Amino acid sequence: MSLTDEYIKDFKSGMIHRELAKKYNITEGYSSKKASLLITQGKLVSRNTPKEIDLNREERIVIEPIPKKPIEIQVAPKREPITSTVNNIKDMRRIIGIWDDHNPMSIPQKANLQLIKDIQPTHLINGGDALHLSYLRAIANAKGRVSLSIEEWNKIQSALKEDYRSYNVILDGRDAAVPENCEKTLLIGNHDYYLEILSKKCPDIEIFDYKKHLRLKERGYRVVPLNKEHTIGKLYFVHGIYFLDHHAKKTASVYHRNIRYGHKHDVQEYTTTTPLGQWDAYNAKSCGCNCDTNPDYIRAKPNAWTHAVYLAYVWPDGSFSDYVIKSVSGKFVYGNRIYGI
Ligand SMILES: [Fe+2]
Repeated sequence: MSLTDEYIKDFKSGMIHRELAKKYNITEGYSSKKASLLITQGKLVSRNTPKEIDLNREERIVIEPIPKKPIEIQVAPKREPITSTVNNIKDMRRIIGIWDDHNPMSIPQKANLQLIKDIQPTHLINGGDALHLSYLRAIANAKGRVSLSIEEWNKIQSALKEDYRSYNVILDGRDAAVPENCEKTLLIGNHDYYLEILSKKCPDIEIFDYKKHLRLKERGYRVVPLNKEHTIGKLYFVHGIYFLDHHAKKTASVYHRNIRYGHKHDVQEYTTTTPLGQWDAYNAKSCGCNCDTNPDYIRAKPNAWTHAVYLAYVWPDGSFSDYVIKSVSGKFVYGNRIYGI
């Protein structure tokens, strides 16, 4: 038997190139080239040829493709129907909300008052930051003792008296417009809160008693403390907490309720994403403001402040239809009527 025949026999027996190189005293590379030449001459068959792979089929691992299933279309379960026998809008709870007056920077009230008269709300919500009170910020937030000259104190007192006087005019207008049995609520805002702090720090200084000076009890207002909520049906009302750009998303994500709020002075809305059929999606709406959109203290900086009034109709089961009605130059259109003219 020639050396080539013996090489062919060894190759066919399964010897690898390292073993062949050792036996025939050649390099592995030479063995590989020799095998390739013999394959081209038809004297050997490549080991890579599937025919030569001596594998028992039963030992092979078979990965089957995932069988295709027909696409299942998930139908969202129907939401609970509105369980109401109400046929007349006058039998529904009707809410008007006005956020962030920031008196004395409040805008003219004509359009809001006309809407109140038309809607005849069962609930009126004052969303807070009723008074601006920037001159109280430093003394309210001071950690230590505050010492004021008589002149400074007199200035604060007269500013506060004037703010109470002018805001009482606004509250009087709203009181005259709402029906007699309208439930009124004031949500304390972060600016109003300066007076809460000062009335606690100085209980003997009567002028800090804003509830008395605004005659809130006589007017029939329920006062909701800062950051607490007021609920009507499935709606939750707060002054507002977050000041970041996407505050509606943050508010909806934190409260997991249908939250209506002001605070940031713009109009925004966000609805949470929820698994269908497990619970209802929640929605947060910021309801704009009712104060000057370019006050002195922001020095004409760009801002997103938007004038708006809030209106909601609530069904007996708490479901609701609600709107944030934006106004321009004290005017808006709602229900085919121009308000503010
Ligand atoms: Fe505000």
